[in-house]
Amino acid sequence: MIDFYNQELEKLKEDNCFRSIADVRREGKYIYLRDGNTEKKLLNMSSNDYLGINSDVEISRQFVSTYKGALGSGSARLLTGNTTCYVELESLLAKLFNKERALLFNSGYHTNVGVFQALLTKKSVVFSDKLNHASIIDGLRLSGGDFFRYKHLDYENLEALIQKHAHNYENIIIASESVFSMDGDIADIKKLVEIKQKYNAVLVIDEAHAFGIFGRNGLGVAEEVGCLDDIDLLVATFGKSIGSYGGFVVGNEILISYLINKARPFIFSTLLPEISVEFSKFVLETILPFTYAKRLLLLDNAQRLREKLRTINIKTAGESQIVPVILGENQKAVDISEKLIDCGYYLLPIRHPTVPKGTARLRISLSANIDFCELEQFFDIFSHIN
Ligand SMILES: Cc1ncc(COP(=O)(O)O)c(C=O)c1O
Repeated sequence: MIDFYNQELEKLKEDNCFRSIADVRREGKYIYLRDGNTEKKLLNMSSNDYLGINSDVEISRQFVSTYKGALGSGSARLLTGNTTCYVELESLLAKLFNKERALLFNSGYHTNVGVFQALLTKKSVVFSDKLNHASIIDGLRLSGGDFFRYKHLDYENLEALIQKHAHNYENIIIASESVFSMDGDIADIKKLVEIKQKYNAVLVIDEAHAFGIFGRNGLGVAEEVGCLDDIDLLVATFGKSIGSYGGFVVGNEILISYLINKARPFIFSTLLPEISVEFSKFVLETILPFTYAKRLLLLDNAQRLREKLRTINIKTAGESQIVPVILGENQKAVDISEKLIDCGYYLLPIRHPTVPKGTARLRISLSANIDFCELEQFFDIFSHIN
């Protein structure tokens, strides 16, 4: 019995797909990789802490010195109800996004699983971008309903699929990330809104990697392109740019009320700790509003790095703070990652099933506290070992 699983692990090792969890200590933009009693200092280029909020000890100290609430949350909300902090954070989110209501979930993963499991009924159909995150796919699978995956960012293909299949269903849902997590490229939200209107569909946008980065107020790509009012459900996480933990969805009263009644991860799990809720609120109120210049610089650094990588014929993509270095085979990604670790850079290989087979890569996940001089040094070293 156990042998069966061991053989599965051996197969992963043969394919260079075996994962293990590194033993580390984090301090600011550095990560210290531990090996017994020794530590190796590396520049952390793999974190989603895009604004450096999570790694800023001053921010944590400031928050903790004033925090008086509970650490945990006790039970699921439908059992023991709301305490003030949940209501306050949801009201703040609804106000920021100019939506009727917000709903907190335990993480971005839980949010997507809950939203898609609940929305996709037998009479509904979902059209989902092929590169949408695993949490969206898991929610779709959990629903047991029908869904079709359109080619990545290919809206002609999306329309062709809608025209082919939608007549079999009463309700159409379109799902896309805004900033795609492994390629850093960005959906054309205006086009998606146009298609949603044409086919009278529900549009769900996952702004996990855009919330805190794009838009004048950091609300995401929909804010940046002026489409917030046209998004039916907007999902995001506090676990990336905001440096906290938890997920949320904003939308109208009917859809949020429907999720409260139908979304299994909301109904059947103890809610996220009060301390995380309060910290998210603290960041939204006292830090995010003052990050605009920092966010522009971050995106500019990312673009300049992409241009440099192209000069040495590296395949990269995107227009966001995520800069993929697409290498192809797993072995190559593993080898280059190991060499970079030797040279002081923490950049892990991303392989199947996180990305399609044959597109293994390093995913440079830039943080605002890494300056361009550091990126130039990184580039020099990378171009020598590649
Ligand atoms: C696009 C996208 N959505 C949702 C999630 C899940 O968010 P969380 O880490 O808060 O569970 C991720 C996480 O990587 C993601 O990339």
